[in-house]
Amino acid sequence: MKHNIEEIKRKLKKYGQEHLLNFYDTLDEKKQDQLLDQIEKIDFELINSLYNKTKNADKKEEAVIESIDFIDKYKLNGDYKYYEDLGKKAIREGKLAAVTMAGGQGTRLGHNGPKGTFDIGLDSHKSLFELLCDYLKNESAKYNVQIPWFIMTSKENNSATIEFFKKNKYFGYEKNIHFFVQGELPMVDTEGKILIGEDGLIKEAADGHGGVYESLLKSGMTEKMKELGVEWVFIGGVDNCLVKMVDPVLMGIAIDKGVTAAGKSVVKANPHEKVGVFCKKNGKPSVIEYIDISEEMAEATDKDGELLYGESHILCNLFNISAIERMGKTPLPYHSAFKKATYIDKDGNKVVPDKPNAYKFEAFLFDAFGEVDDMAILRVKREEEFAPVKNATGVDSPETARKLYNDFYKLS
Ligand code: UD1
Repeated sequence: MKHNIEEIKRKLKKYGQEHLLNFYDTLDEKKQDQLLDQIEKIDFELINSLYNKTKNADKKEEAVIESIDFIDKYKLNGDYKYYEDLGKKAIREGKLAAVTMAGGQGTRLGHNGPKGTFDIGLDSHKSLFELLCDYLKNESAKYNVQIPWFIMTSKENNSATIEFFKKNKYFGYEKNIHFFVQGELPMVDTEGKILIGEDGLIKEAADGHGGVYESLLKSGMTEKMKELGVEWVFIGGVDNCLVKMVDPVLMGIAIDKGVTAAGKSVVKANPHEKVGVFCKKNGKPSVIEYIDISEEMAEATDKDGELLYGESHILCNLFNISAIERMGKTPLPYHSAFKKATYIDKDGNKVVPDKPNAYKFEAFLFDAFGEVDDMAILRVKREEEFAPVKNATGVDSPETARKLYNDFYKLS
C-alpha cells in the first residue's frame, strides 16, 4: 500500500480535517488513491495560517511606500536606437523566450473554456491564443529566430487548452510551444474546513499568477530554456490582445543597466483606475494594488503635475533567467479571495451557493519583485500595448479590446 492511512487519519485529526475521508469508501480505487495523494501534499500548517489571516484581513502590513523612477520609451531620444540595437542583437541570438500565463477560465466573460480560447469578436474571429501566436510568429520571422513560447495552464484548463491547440494545429508554431501547469491550493470554508468537490476529491483552485516562477522551475521549463540558450524571459497575461512580448528597447535597457528585471507601465487613465501601480516598498521594486492605495496617495502629484503613483502595472515584465530561478525558490505571500464554490457537504449533498462561501488563496507575481534589488520600469503607450479583456461589457471588455486592436493594426 502506497499510503499509510492511519498516519493520514492522525494528521487529519490533528488539523480538524477528518471530514476529508467521509466519502472515501464510496470512491473507486483510483480516486481513493488520488484523494490520499492530495491529502499528503497539503501543507496543513500553511492552510491553517492562511485561513486565520482571513479573519484579520483588515490588518495591513506596515511598509514604506515610495514612488519609483521610470524611463519613458518615447522620450529616450538618441538613446532609443542604442537600447533597441542592444536588444535586437540579443533577440537575434535567441536569448528571449515568452511566457503566457493562461491558467484562467473565461467565466467573467461568459465564456465556457480557457480564457485564451476566447474570441474577442474580430472579423477574423481569432482567439486570444491565436492573436498572441500570430504576433510571436511575426516577430520570430522579423529576427530570423524561433522565439519559444511557454504557456502556463492550470489543472482546470490544461487538457482543454492542449486540445484547442491540437485542433488548430498549434497555429503552425508547434515545435516552439511548451505547456506547463501551475500549482493549486485547497479551498476552505468560513470555518476553515477544506472543501470536497463534486468528484469526491479535494476542491482545489489555481494558486495565482505568482505561482509562475515556481511552476517554471519545478516543471523543468527553466532548464529547457537554458538548453535553448535563453537568457531573458518575458512574462505576460493571456488577456491582453496587444501584449508586446518582444520588445528590444525593454531588453536593451535591462541589459545596459545590468538589472535582472524590467517592467512596462502605462500612465494611469485616471487616479482611480482599477490597476496596480509600480512603486518602491521598503526600498525594493513592487506593485501596490488599487484596493491598497489610499485616496491621498492615488491623487498625489509631483512638481510637474504627474501622478506620483501613476505607472500602471500591465503584467508585462521581463526577467533574467537567474531572477526567475531565485524567485521560484522564494515562498510568496498568499492573498485570499472569497468566492462561490460548489461542494459536497458533510452529509454528502451537493451545495451550489448563490453567494461567496469559500476562500481561495493566490500568490501575485509582483510580490516577488522585491527579490531583485532594482528593476527598470519602461513607460509605454497604452494604445500600443494594453488592450485587456476582463469584463463581458464596459471597461476592459471585448468591445474596448477589439477597438484598440483594430486601431493599432489599422484593420478598420
Ligand atoms: C492584474 C493585476 C493588476 C494589473 C492588471 C493588468 C493582480 C492581482 N493584479 O489584475 O496589477 O494592473 O492585471 O491587466 O494580478 N492567471 C493565471 N493563473 C492564476 C491567476 C491568473 O494564469 O492563477 C493569469 C490570467 O489568465 C491572466 C492574468 O494572469 O492572463 C491576469 O490575471 P487576473 O486575475 O485577471 O488579474 P487582474 O485581477 O485583472
